[in-house]
Amino acid sequence: MTEFVCTANPGFAPYAMEELRRRFPGCKVSGLAPGETFLFAIAERETERTLKELRREEPVFLRHLFPVEAECETTGDPEATAERMRAFASALGERLKGAKAAIQVRKEQNSPFPFTSAEGRDAIAPVVAELGGEVVPREADWIVSIYAAKKKLFMGCSRPRDNLSDWPGGAVRFRRDDSLISRAAFKLLEAEKAFNLPFDRFTNALDLGAAPGGWTSVLLDRGLKVTAVDPAEMDGSLVTHPNLRHLRRNAADVSFSPGTFDLFVCDMSWDPHHTCRIVSELAPAIAAGGSGIITLKLMYRKPLQTIDDLTEEYGRLFDVRRIKQLFHNREEVTIWVKRK
Ligand SMILES: C[S@@+](CC[C@H](N)C(=O)[O-])C[C@H]1O[C@@H](n2cnc3c(N)ncnc32)[C@H](O)[C@@H]1O
Repeated sequence: MTEFVCTANPGFAPYAMEELRRRFPGCKVSGLAPGETFLFAIAERETERTLKELRREEPVFLRHLFPVEAECETTGDPEATAERMRAFASALGERLKGAKAAIQVRKEQNSPFPFTSAEGRDAIAPVVAELGGEVVPREADWIVSIYAAKKKLFMGCSRPRDNLSDWPGGAVRFRRDDSLISRAAFKLLEAEKAFNLPFDRFTNALDLGAAPGGWTSVLLDRGLKVTAVDPAEMDGSLVTHPNLRHLRRNAADVSFSPGTFDLFVCDMSWDPHHTCRIVSELAPAIAAGGSGIITLKLMYRKPLQTIDDLTEEYGRLFDVRRIKQLFHNREEVTIWVKRK
C-alpha cells in the first residue's frame, strides 16, 4: 500500500475523506488529528495514477498530502527523534544531490514530538547539505515532509506538485501589510495563485459585496477599473481612487450594459443559492469568456450536496472551472467560473 498524510481545513477532513472515497473506490482512510489530518492508503500500483488524477482535478476539501516513506513511534526524546529523522534524510541520497530541497516539519497539538518546526528543520538540514542538496524555503525540487502525530512520526519526500500545495500542510501565508483593508483580501490573493489567474490580465471588474474593500484594493493594485457594489461604506483610503466607482446599492437592484466587465468577484457572505440568483441576473453584464471568483458559504448540513447543487446552478450560465476550499476560507469554498 502507499499511504499519504492528508490535510484539510479544521473541521473539514470528513468531507475530504468522503471525496477521496468516492473518487478512489477501494482506498482506505483513517483519522489522525480530528477534523484536520488523516491517512489515505491506496494499492501501491495505483500511486502514479492516483497522483495524476488528483492533479487533474483537485478535490475541493483536500488541501495537502504527502506520501509516507518511513514511520516510527513518536517520542519526546530529542536525540532519538533527531536520529530517526536524520536516518530518513540520509536514505534520500541521489534524489537530493544537486537539488533544491524544502524541509517542512509539522506536529499535531497533542504530539510528544520534542521540536518546533524550525528546530526539526535544523536537525535535518545538515544531512541534506551533506548529500549535495541545497535547503531552500520555497520553489524547491523536492519537499522533505515530517508530520508528528500523537503516536506516530511520518516522513516522506515528494515533488511539490504531488503535494497539491508547496506550503507546509497547504497553509498559505501572505506577508501582513499594515495597509491591508481586511483579512478577506487574503482569500482573493490565494484564489489568484491557486487558480493561476493573474488579475492584471483583466481590465474592468465588478465587485459585489465589496465593503470595506479588501478585494477591491487587490484589483485596484493590479491596475483594474473597479465598480464596487455594496450598501455599506468603503474604506476611507479607497474612496477617492480614480479607478473606483462605488454604487451604494443592493446587488439585486443594479444593472449594467451587456459585456461591461471581463471580471467579477463576489464575497457577499450570504445564502449561496441566493447569491447565485443575483450573480445570474447580472451575468449578461459579463463578457463571454470573462471570469468570476465567488465565495460560497457552506451554511447547510451537507457541504458536498450544496457544492453539487451550486455547480449545477452556476453551470447554466457559466463554465465551472474550479471549486476549492482555500486555506483562507472558513465555513465556505471559492468557485472560479467563466461566462459561457
Ligand atoms: C464579507 S463582506 C465582504 C468583504 C470584502 N470582500 C472585502 O474584501 O473587504 C460582505 C459584504 O457583502 C455586503 N452585502 C451583503 N449582501 C449584499 C447585497 N445583496 N448587495 C450588495 N452587498 C451585499 C455586505 O454589506 C458586506 O459589506
